Amino acid sequence: MAGKTVLTGVQATGMPHLGNYIGAIRPALQKAAHEGKSFLFIADYHALNSVRDAAALTRDTYEVAACWLALGLDPAQTVFYRQSDIPEIFELTVALMAVTPKGLMDRSHAYKAAKDKNEAEGRDVDANVNMGLYTYPILMAADILAMRAHIVPVGHDQTQHIEFARDIAGYLNNTFKPVLVQPEGLIQPQSATVQGLDGRKMSKSYGNHIPLFIDAKARQKLIMKIVTDSKLPADPKDPDTSTIFQLYSYFAPDADVALMREAFLKGGMGYGDAKKLLAAAVEEALAEPSHLYNEYMSDLPKLDAILAEGAEKARAVARATLSDVRQAVGLKPLK
Ligand code: TRP
Repeated sequence: MAGKTVLTGVQATGMPHLGNYIGAIRPALQKAAHEGKSFLFIADYHALNSVRDAAALTRDTYEVAACWLALGLDPAQTVFYRQSDIPEIFELTVALMAVTPKGLMDRSHAYKAAKDKNEAEGRDVDANVNMGLYTYPILMAADILAMRAHIVPVGHDQTQHIEFARDIAGYLNNTFKPVLVQPEGLIQPQSATVQGLDGRKMSKSYGNHIPLFIDAKARQKLIMKIVTDSKLPADPKDPDTSTIFQLYSYFAPDADVALMREAFLKGGMGYGDAKKLLAAAVEEALAEPSHLYNEYMSDLPKLDAILAEGAEKARAVARATLSDVRQAVGLKPLK
């Protein structure tokens, strides 16, 4: 991927949980460390389509920013910013609207899902659908195209959005002249499903999650609540279906994981003891990031300064793109 620009957007949905960390954040950080030019931003204007609590949007955005930094995102290497700090993205959105057929938005999976749900529940098909949701893919295209991104690593559910971004860039390029980079999605392999406290997929909406950065005692308490079967300590247990073992395998060193595996298979380790080992491994992994997280959250001006620095770098790129687009369509260029 040498010489290519990589960009990812993350939702401003507040503090991530262990499942988000293992499934998405950790792999993204590992990859970012090996990339040339990369951009990562918090999609706070996208969040505004559904969030109706101003204080929550502010807080969630800070939490997401603090989490990524605490977990090792290096803002000197990855341009890290808030979407809402880049006005050029929104001007580009208007230009893209002019070349995007309405029919494309009608085919959007997210919009269709909202309509289907309304229909199934006997409401008007467009109930609770705002124009932000309807045009979500155009804003997302602007996020990507503004930074001239070549590669966009995303989860499977975002495949259509990336196709739309390519299509929309193509409409503008073909109608006027080729000024926009057509991005490619890098669809992430389905990450292992991380089990939550009740054994189902860990998810905020199920309420079975363990937030990343809460007080160590509270985290330990949640770990002790992981649901198990009623096997006795002496009984052999199946590590591969155990939530405790699964989480342990993500946080503990390999040698320790092998030991727990053996103890499960042979019998002799109780679930209570396994949970204590898990809690210790999680603490070991998260102690330093927790400390950093709390530092960031208690120094919001510092967080703002880091994001402002990222915004400045991102704006320079977005401004150049926007100027090219303005010039291509017959508006006054910016430079
Ligand atoms: N839609 C993405 C999601 O739900 C978030 C996002 C917004 C994004 N803009 C983006 C992702 C641009 C990649 C590139 O996860």
